Amino acid sequence: MKLIDGKTIAEKIKGEIKAEVAAIIDRDERAPHLAAILVGEDPASQTYVTSKEKACRSTGITSSLYKFEETVSEKELLSVIDFINNDPDTDGLIVQQPLPEHINTDRVVASINPAKDVDGFHPINMGKMILGLPSFLPATPMGIMELLRRSKIETEGKHVVVLGRSNIVGTPIAIMLSRKGNPGNATVTLCHSKTANLKELCLQADILIAAIGQPGFVKATMVKPGAVIIDVGIHRIEDKSEKGYHIAGDVDFKEVSKISGPITPVPGGVGVMTIAALLMNTMKAYKKEL
Ligand code: GUN
Repeated sequence: MKLIDGKTIAEKIKGEIKAEVAAIIDRDERAPHLAAILVGEDPASQTYVTSKEKACRSTGITSSLYKFEETVSEKELLSVIDFINNDPDTDGLIVQQPLPEHINTDRVVASINPAKDVDGFHPINMGKMILGLPSFLPATPMGIMELLRRSKIETEGKHVVVLGRSNIVGTPIAIMLSRKGNPGNATVTLCHSKTANLKELCLQADILIAAIGQPGFVKATMVKPGAVIIDVGIHRIEDKSEKGYHIAGDVDFKEVSKISGPITPVPGGVGVMTIAALLMNTMKAYKKEL
């Protein structure tokens, strides 16, 4: 078993960005700026947004947090997004998901200026991604691509099985890995809740990407010996430790790592790479590269 060390790779990326931001500030120019909108008290969302702010600070990227009560109206949210869209001092904007039921997430995402959409969720950026045109790529699949690239994991001609078809992870990573490129040129099977013979398909995977949202879902009996395992899950599991919980992924790491090839740990795998990718996108937005 070999660990795919997301933490070290993410630190390297953050170091590269930090040097770039320092050079910008040395020229007396404005630092890149990321705005985040957080609605409600969802603990996971709060943790993610805090981690994103902390990562910004560690590189010199400045950030602002627009926090709203669960009861905020869609109209109010859209008017704040309109303000940020037109604010010349803000380069990137993320609206943390999930949003409350009474808010139409699709409408909110579509209202973000595509040039500031560092989550890459806007239909224009999603469409460009599918066509292989330059665009902001969603941070989690982009982080996985960067992880594969920097870990020198070959994807060409490989059978990649993706578990989960979300707009944020499963669908975009399936597209990215099936396109021409390196990483890329893979044959991809996208599995979901209605897939028949899930176990048999998983057993065929050279690379298995678990983004199914269920702790410990992938067992050793579902994994071909030597397969590469990318675990996207982040679950807080209560236990009797001092902290009262530990973080687990979608993969039963203990048993799967005994037979797999390179595998991402949780934490320290995909999660930290997601944040590194968001910072990369913020730099792209700042430089108006897209
Ligand atoms: N919720 C879960 N993942 C993400 C993400 O990458 N961006 C946003 N905005 N919300 C999320």
